[in-house]
Amino acid sequence: MSAKQSNFVQRNHYTSEGSIKRVERSIRQNLHSALLLFSIAALLTVSLVYSFLPDTLPSKQLHNAISFSTLEAGRAKCEAIQTRQKKGVNSPSKDRSYNPRAEPTQEPILLKNAVVWDGQGQVLEDVDVYIENGIIRQVEKDIQVDGNKRVKVIDVAGHIVSPGLVDMHSHIGVDGWPRYTSSIDANEMPNPITPYVRILDGFNPSDKAIRIVASGGITSVLALPGSANVIGGEAYAFKLRPRSTVSNEDMLVQANNTEDTEWRWMKMACGENPKRIYGSLLHMQPSTRLGMAYMLRKELTKAQALMRQQDDWCHNAQHGRVDAVFPEDMDLESLVALLRGQVLLNIHCYETYDIEALIRHSLEFNFTISAFHHALDAYRIPEILRRAMNNITIATFADNWGYTKETYQSIPEAPRILYEAGIPLALKSDHPVLNSQRLMFEAAKTTHYGLPPQEAFRAVTSAPADAMGLGHRIGSLKVGYDADIVIWDREPVALAAVPLQVFVDGVPLFDERPIKPVENTRPAIKKHSVQTVPKRMDRARSFMLKNAGISFLNGTLVKGPLDLIVENGSITCTGSRCVSTHVLEYDLQGGYILPGFVGVGSSLGLIEMTFEPMTGDGNAPAVRNDNPKDLIRAVDGIKLGTQQLEAAYNGGILSVITAPMSKNIVIGVSAAFKTHAESLLYKGALLSKAVALHMQIGHEFKSDSFPTVSSQINYIRQLLGDNMANDNYYGQAARGEIPTIITAHNKDEIASLIALKQQDLPKARIVIHGGTESYLVAQFLKEADIPVVLSPVLCTPINFDSVHCLTGAPLTNGTAAHVLHKHGVKVAVGIPDNSYSRNLIWDAGWLAASSPSSAEFDDGVISQEDSIRFITTNVQEIYGLETAVDPNEFVVYSGNPLDMTSRLMLISTNEGLHLL
Ligand SMILES: *[C@@H]1O[C@H](CO)[C@@H](O)[C@H](O)[C@H]1NC(C)=O
Ligand SMILES: *[C@@H]1O[C@H](CO)[C@@H](O)[C@H](O)[C@H]1NC(C)=O
Ligand SMILES: *[C@@H]1O[C@H](CO)[C@@H](O)[C@H](O)[C@H]1NC(C)=O
Ligand SMILES: *[C@@H]1O[C@H](CO)[C@@H](O)[C@H](O)[C@H]1NC(C)=O
Ligand SMILES: *[C@@H]1O[C@H](CO)[C@@H](O)[C@H](O)[C@H]1NC(C)=O
Ligand SMILES: *[C@@H]1O[C@H](CO)[C@@H](O)[C@H](O)[C@H]1NC(C)=O
Repeated sequence: MSAKQSNFVQRNHYTSEGSIKRVERSIRQNLHSALLLFSIAALLTVSLVYSFLPDTLPSKQLHNAISFSTLEAGRAKCEAIQTRQKKGVNSPSKDRSYNPRAEPTQEPILLKNAVVWDGQGQVLEDVDVYIENGIIRQVEKDIQVDGNKRVKVIDVAGHIVSPGLVDMHSHIGVDGWPRYTSSIDANEMPNPITPYVRILDGFNPSDKAIRIVASGGITSVLALPGSANVIGGEAYAFKLRPRSTVSNEDMLVQANNTEDTEWRWMKMACGENPKRIYGSLLHMQPSTRLGMAYMLRKELTKAQALMRQQDDWCHNAQHGRVDAVFPEDMDLESLVALLRGQVLLNIHCYETYDIEALIRHSLEFNFTISAFHHALDAYRIPEILRRAMNNITIATFADNWGYTKETYQSIPEAPRILYEAGIPLALKSDHPVLNSQRLMFEAAKTTHYGLPPQEAFRAVTSAPADAMGLGHRIGSLKVGYDADIVIWDREPVALAAVPLQVFVDGVPLFDERPIKPVENTRPAIKKHSVQTVPKRMDRARSFMLKNAGISFLNGTLVKGPLDLIVENGSITCTGSRCVSTHVLEYDLQGGYILPGFVGVGSSLGLIEMTFEPMTGDGNAPAVRNDNPKDLIRAVDGIKLGTQQLEAAYNGGILSVITAPMSKNIVIGVSAAFKTHAESLLYKGALLSKAVALHMQIGHEFKSDSFPTVSSQINYIRQLLGDNMANDNYYGQAARGEIPTIITAHNKDEIASLIALKQQDLPKARIVIHGGTESYLVAQFLKEADIPVVLSPVLCTPINFDSVHCLTGAPLTNGTAAHVLHKHGVKVAVGIPDNSYSRNLIWDAGWLAASSPSSAEFDDGVISQEDSIRFITTNVQEIYGLETAVDPNEFVVYSGNPLDMTSRLMLISTNEGLHLL
């Protein structure tokens, strides 16, 4: 029993003062009217509901200590509990003709010539979709509409039409863009048990993210509290269509709902987050998983006791035996609702034993868990998941990993394994951790690791909708569902798929554009060879590869079919006339030969798990120190043979350029090395021990030593200027002997750096790294010959210094890369986070796949070759590594790497051929 609860009981029984007394007084004063009212009510209403109420109830009741209205209020609660219990779950209905959120002024819409992906695994070729009153009314061939009706007809010309996506793990609205400290409302701290807080009370319906995320085809989200607290509070399901009322309640999926069972949602968390935040940072309980379980069970024990008191009260009220107020406690209300089965519980957990603990608690206290979120290790424990009372959905990441211990042992095949084990699977963003706008890309990635495309699509549509208890209204394109619909520019699981148009409740969200007939934007799906590369070719240093589709060695694209011969680790022939005497040859069947990618901008080699400092070199603090001898070199801290480097290597990254980790303006000097080397001492492992001087400016790097951005820029000016003639790294950078890489995102800060180069450091080879808003000064970057390493390549306006981020179609024509490229600025694509390294080819390829075709971009189209240059030759040129990277090393994809089902099959390095 909580403190509040016991106080109340005390007042009730032992105090002559206070509210109970006042209630008694008021009862006496209003005795006559109360009696009258009570009799009528008892006869007309109460007796209907509690038909076995004894006749003597009124007079008997009035001798007790509560008023009639208090009694009635309690009875109403008992009734609500019963009614809710009876309603049960919602089921879909073809006859549904009422969408409580429909917009009365919206005209009906007929989508002609669609290929429908229904979100439940079905594909319907060449059908029409008719939408009226916010409901999907018909999905069939050749729908004819009543000529008298005003219907808007849109010919979708063979494009795929699908339900809007459902992101069941988002912090949109409570952790908004830009991320002002004043508007982050996701974790109510410092109390680890807050079941009583509600997202609705902090959801900003004007969050800039809402429209951007909707532009990715996401139409509904479950906005959850954060994961700092063991019990985080109540979540709410919103549709991403802001209303003219600017009301967040009007954005609720269940707004205006009168027919369906209303669901509530709750968030809990286990594992490292509560431990770190309470134990390590705040020195509070819980500091261990043990404490976490205790606190949770203790709270559930209180809720269980309260629920039983309530049930007793309701039972007694039926028999006229109550003499106290209906027992309630605001702090426990939502937990009691959970125990009553009215709340869908969503729990953030990663490790197997964390998941197991929560299932144990659910059996002990008799509640169900709707979904485990993140749950990167869930694929290892299908048997434990089956111990639960219901089918628990695993709402996981596609391939996000490696930042903590609990995410370190995960594998990207997990979604496929879960699917094969029959575990309901959802994919989600954790926005803004991942940008929810790109949820479809997350699903697409799982197809690369073997999840069937329709299952990947289900995991972002009907599966999360079902787990949210809303699977009868959203997440499927079927008759009777809400008209939340996306028209895709290409197959949704293809790289760079984006909506042409998005409808919510039948209302279009974006400007109407002419829809061109579907082109085959996705490279024809190649039948990948069933035969595998013979084992005996593993480690071979002399061999022949035949019948490649494309070769992109040396920065030029050669179309196949062509052959390639490697002798003793060196490429000795490429083309159609290579003759080999080798026994070891393999037919690539159109595979693509590409140079190894060069990864820049990450901390690969310096840290394994960001949240486990023991696994890294450490972070240099921000201190003003002009002594060139104290400049840090990454080469002194590199560790090889790590899982992060292995993942990068398996993503085709054969070399990386890594700068030290630092909070300082001067970061230090980067090193270039091979991702597959075992030690820097091996010949060829270290490509360069001093690649470039790295600096960083902006809000993020303000410190006691550099409290302003202006002081940061001035420091760079002084440091390089003063060392112009000296023989140290500052001098080398000032004279342009090594590049100076400066991380900056804001257009004006970048403008200051352009001015710095032009006025003070004309010889310095300044490079902008980051560069979210660099496109706004593209022509000046070109004039000053300053390249840009975009990182991340697909930006978000998460910070104030990046608010002008170009978020891409359908909201903007292209992205920063497209504008920079059009202006002739040399572009490279960086790795914003170690764990994203294996996606580098897709990050770069996205730019080619999404290059705008409008007249505005005629001379700026990014080709596939360009996109590969962004992660190979352009990086080498920008960082001055043209000769350091071994031209004999290459990677082979089974098909076009921009086709997400192609896989990296071979890597050839100086150690020989590696079969993947
Ligand atoms: C609820 O229904 C009323 C009456 O039809 C309508 O005016 C209002 O816009 C609806 N609210 C929402 C959120 O759809
Ligand atoms: C468990 O909870 C459900 C409601 O969610 C209820 O119907 C059932 O009776 C409970 N079982 C026990 C043993 O309390
Ligand atoms: C879980 O899902 C399976 C397969 O869909 C179904 O057969 C089973 O009844 C479900 N179990 C529960 C408890 O809902
Ligand atoms: C790459 O270019 C170099 C020099 O331009 C040339 O010698 C070599 O044959 C080329 N290699 C391939 C695979 O095209
Ligand atoms: C390959 O290199 C080894 C030594 O590195 C040498 O002994 C051998 O003759 C070379 N073979 C060919 C075919 O060039
Ligand atoms: C995109 O380009 C088209 C055609 O060039 C133009 O009409 C449209 O206004 C542009 N849109 C944006 C958001 O800049």
